[in-house]
Amino acid sequence: MPKIVLIKNLKDHVNEEIQIRGWMFNKRGSGKIYFLQLRDGSGVTQGIVSIDSVSVETMEKAEKLTMESSVKISGTVSKHPHKEDYEIQVTDIEIVQLVSEDYPISKKEHGPSFLLNNRHLWLRSSKQIAIQKVRNTIINAIYEYLNNDGYTKIEAPILTPNACEGTTELFELEYFDLGNAYLSQSGQLYIEAAIFAHGRVFDFGPVFRAEKSKTRRHLTEFWMMDAEAAFVEHKENMEIQEKLVEFIVAKVLEKNEKELITLERDIEALKKVKAPFIRMTHKEAVEKLHELGSEIGENDDLGAEDETILTKLYDKPIFIEKYPAVVKAFYMRRDPENPNVALCADMLAPEGYGEVIGGSEREADYDTLLERIKEQNLPLEEFQWYLDLRKYGSVPHSGFGIGLERLIGWLCGINHIRETIPFPRTIGRKTP
Ligand code: 4AD
Ligand code: MG
Repeated sequence: MPKIVLIKNLKDHVNEEIQIRGWMFNKRGSGKIYFLQLRDGSGVTQGIVSIDSVSVETMEKAEKLTMESSVKISGTVSKHPHKEDYEIQVTDIEIVQLVSEDYPISKKEHGPSFLLNNRHLWLRSSKQIAIQKVRNTIINAIYEYLNNDGYTKIEAPILTPNACEGTTELFELEYFDLGNAYLSQSGQLYIEAAIFAHGRVFDFGPVFRAEKSKTRRHLTEFWMMDAEAAFVEHKENMEIQEKLVEFIVAKVLEKNEKELITLERDIEALKKVKAPFIRMTHKEAVEKLHELGSEIGENDDLGAEDETILTKLYDKPIFIEKYPAVVKAFYMRRDPENPNVALCADMLAPEGYGEVIGGSEREADYDTLLERIKEQNLPLEEFQWYLDLRKYGSVPHSGFGIGLERLIGWLCGINHIRETIPFPRTIGRKTP
């Protein structure tokens, strides 16, 4: 039996007899020679089946192989005469399953709803594979950076008794005899509790928002990485974020060049993502937007359109700092120099992608926080534990939350973030 190898390792086996195991995703040729396009999850290669070097039986198998049939292919590895590509001169074919019906996804163009209905199969397409590989790199880069920077991973609960980011977007469910529970919108409040034990912490997992928005940036289930650090104030909070994002982008450039090419991503644009990023206050942003013809009010949140306009002006991410407190969450500390604004910053990705991170310094004073909770009519009882944190060793602290799918969308150059998660959930979709 020949040695079983992964396609990505073919380069180490030139002139050797090997076997690969995977799927055939395309085929060219007829009668005398077939070129099988093969995939095994580690890469793609071409298997050449020539009438001169295989049995009649093997030639017949090559002839009847259909798209997405699973196979074990044996042969000799050879280097492509001109390219850095490695091929297999096939000697034997074992069909694991011959796909008898036509595979629904063909080379022709399909509409988005057809593809999304067939998401379980669409995941096998080359661009979709590339996106998930980049996703994997980003997740690992986040872990690597934070672990090396003294952060401890802490799990926040998904079933919670209260809201983190406002009550209009909560998924609600009945919780036995204890009334309602909600699916978490962000682990932030819970990981704040853990800074008093660990100093710097992060969580990473699915969060839920009953977003009524049907935009290219909104999912109802998405992944968030919340990070939180004791003794970190607003300015340093931004420095942590830009260094982290710079590291993530560098990792993607290092590990996923092939995938970025498959995705036709402008790689030069990503190479410009180096700290320090642009900083501008909300006030400055509004002034700039007015100059550019926008009608945004001075106390308005930035709309998607405003973000697009601003981020096209620079080739690096922008921090928009100090939003009007009225458009931001109750837990944000106010600017001591201007209590109408919060000590917060959103990071907007360039090239029109917009918000990828939301973060702030947190209100650390008991009485002030209590006032905010009351102002916003939040159920005091459910926030008592959160207030406690301001009673027992309170310290200035800050944190931020990365929307994983938004980050992937930007780095992969994908217009709609539904392609960045294996099984997207939006207001109009809960299947497959
Ligand atoms: O700005 P947000 O709402 O901030 C928080 O939840 C804070 N508690 C985070 C923190 O400080 N620890 O959400 C954070 C990020 C956004 O910047 C955006 O990238 C993403 O989560 N996001 C969404 N991504 C996809 N679909 C949605 N519906 C999203 N809503 C927010
Ligand atoms: Mg936000």
